[in-house]
Amino acid sequence: MGVIRIDLGKDSYDIVIRRGALYDAGFELDLDRKVLVVSDDGVPDEYGDVVMDAAREGFRMVFRAGEANKSIDTLNEILTHMVRCGFDRHDCVVAVGGGISGDMAGFAASCYMRGIDFYNIPTTVLSQVDSSVGGKTAINLGGVKNSVGAFHQPKKVLIDPDVVSTLPPRQVANGLAEALKMAFTFDADLFSLFLEGDVIGNLDAIIEKSILLKKVIVQLDEHEKGLRKVLNFGHTIGHGIEASLPAGTLFHGECVSLGMIPMCSESVRPALEKALERLGLPTRFSFDEDAVCEAISHDKKSTGDRISTVFVPEIGKYEFRDMGLNDIRALLPLIQK
Ligand code: GLY
Repeated sequence: MGVIRIDLGKDSYDIVIRRGALYDAGFELDLDRKVLVVSDDGVPDEYGDVVMDAAREGFRMVFRAGEANKSIDTLNEILTHMVRCGFDRHDCVVAVGGGISGDMAGFAASCYMRGIDFYNIPTTVLSQVDSSVGGKTAINLGGVKNSVGAFHQPKKVLIDPDVVSTLPPRQVANGLAEALKMAFTFDADLFSLFLEGDVIGNLDAIIEKSILLKKVIVQLDEHEKGLRKVLNFGHTIGHGIEASLPAGTLFHGECVSLGMIPMCSESVRPALEKALERLGLPTRFSFDEDAVCEAISHDKKSTGDRISTVFVPEIGKYEFRDMGLNDIRALLPLIQK
């Protein structure tokens, strides 16, 4: 617990990790201006109220939860609200919520008046371990996940582990899938905690360790020219499954869990499956392989008919592989129920 500095030159910022940090928003963040608090309707009002109460002039925007609302329409609503409320380039946006709130609020901040300050208060495990670090912001457009977005680093991130202690176990596991992904590709010691240790009892340490791992990657490759692509491990097939299913059937981390399984060597696959099962994450699911392949062909990571993927030959190691769509299709039966 403490402060992790993300060193990105003029875009450097602190991630404050502390129990109760949410309630310190008033002195941790510069809220002496107009502040737009963006949340979805699954976030307890009380969390946004803390920021509203601390702001000199607070405004609120609550959109309906769900990937379907990570859309140009919601972005339009946020930006229009800011114009109508007279926000100028010295004002700021604060996301209080999960990854979708952070991605949309961050994207709105990145383009409003060509870029204004953005703070993030992630309230899910998924957003605490992954999406609050590294400045990726986006909306979905044309049926393609995160197809329109920008890199826009926050001014500060406040992580309060207390707020995730009330989440349902399925939501916690959903977020831990991204931490497990980082462990499996980068950190064999952390992976052994997932395989044999007390995961929930070590939740704070896992959050902190995941942020430290992601910090190293983002500092070396902020704009995903190379190394940062490792964070897409499991996401090619995972996003394909997510796009092929009716909205809300599986959570993002659950789809990534399935997506990781075919992308590792046979020797390490049993360990991965065991670690996923310990968290209650899926290792098999029934899906339409054509629909998954169709979605994969629109993936941002594809160039022509080649798709840039990440493969794990042994625990804690990764390699990049360019694969054809047919090569990926041939792996899908491994996770088909
Ligand atoms: N979630 C992947 C990344 O931030 O690059």
